[in-house]
Amino acid sequence: MMNTENILRKENLSKEEIIYLLKLEGEDLNKLFLKSKEIKEKYIGKKVHFRGLIEFSNYCSKDCSYCGIRKSNSNVERYNISDSNIIKAAEYAYNENYGSIVLQSGEISSDKFTNRITSLLKEVKSISDNELGITISLGEQSAETYKKWFDAGAHRFLLRIESSNKDLYYKIHPNDKQHNFEKRIACLHSLKEIGYQTGTGVMVGLPFQTYEDLANDILFMKELDIDMCGMGPYIEHEDTPLYKHKDSLMPLDQRFKLSLKMIAILRIVMKDINIAAATALQAIDKMGREKAVKIGANIIMPNITPGMYRNNYNLYQNKPCVDEEPEECKGCLDARMNIANATIGYGEWGDSPHFKRRN
Ligand code: 5AD
Ligand code: FES
Repeated sequence: MMNTENILRKENLSKEEIIYLLKLEGEDLNKLFLKSKEIKEKYIGKKVHFRGLIEFSNYCSKDCSYCGIRKSNSNVERYNISDSNIIKAAEYAYNENYGSIVLQSGEISSDKFTNRITSLLKEVKSISDNELGITISLGEQSAETYKKWFDAGAHRFLLRIESSNKDLYYKIHPNDKQHNFEKRIACLHSLKEIGYQTGTGVMVGLPFQTYEDLANDILFMKELDIDMCGMGPYIEHEDTPLYKHKDSLMPLDQRFKLSLKMIAILRIVMKDINIAAATALQAIDKMGREKAVKIGANIIMPNITPGMYRNNYNLYQNKPCVDEEPEECKGCLDARMNIANATIGYGEWGDSPHFKRRN
């Protein structure tokens, strides 16, 4: 017979035990969250690190079936922030002592794009005396491109696998050369090989997704030995093909709770990795990111994209803070982290302890 306390005492969790934990409710669920909180404080401490998120362009060459900025969505107003405004946003992060930025955009693969990013990375390093840490989240690229960007100063890369179940992957992406499951996995390996702190993650509460899928996602991340994770609830977007399955989804509050459970279990399974409190959590619950920090997450990505563009980077609907300027977001985050019993590691990179250990 499986029992929560016994499972939480174990060193290695089986798929069945993870599924058991994913289904916990009430008092037993609190035990899970208490355990993940303990592990976080032991291996990571109470510090949360910021990554100022700059969503610099919503042009995308791909057509993921869940994503609001997919190429075929003609209802989006496309934007591409100028290099000088991107650098201004990075300067803002530097002056505010954020420690790191994330550069994210839709997926574009071209020599022009590669070169543009390479010079931006060098510029960010130069305006910050080499001090700002840089995470990039720019999709699937060739190993040469990844290497160029690494050499130019990026040291962390986020590429979510979205789902580690190949069948499910092709239910949420077109099944074509541009959306190839094996290629995505190969990219993750290539990023690790080049020397990036490598992050991945999944969406929680997707149509067709089972508890077994989610347990396998956790085991996939463990097997890949990732350094960082960003995962959050799937939120339907009406301009996407996946929207037609909206009636089969679990209610938003359950997707939210399940995402917290995934974070807690991943924290127990991979004790010293960086786990981000995804913005999508905040789209469902105003205190969503704080709740995630309380039970296991240690990274927050405040959106510092210049306000006028934010409305158009809607991967999903109800995105929080889209009407605010970055300054307002910051004051609000200081207070919020206090509530989550965390202190902010201002001016520090907050690299994944796991990455340091495995090197
Ligand atoms: N709901 C939640 N997350 C989404 N993403 C894209 N579309 C959605 C959505 N509808 C996530 C994907 C992607 C990341 C940048 O945003 O996981 O990797
Ligand atoms: Fe842009 Fe998926 S729609 S990468």
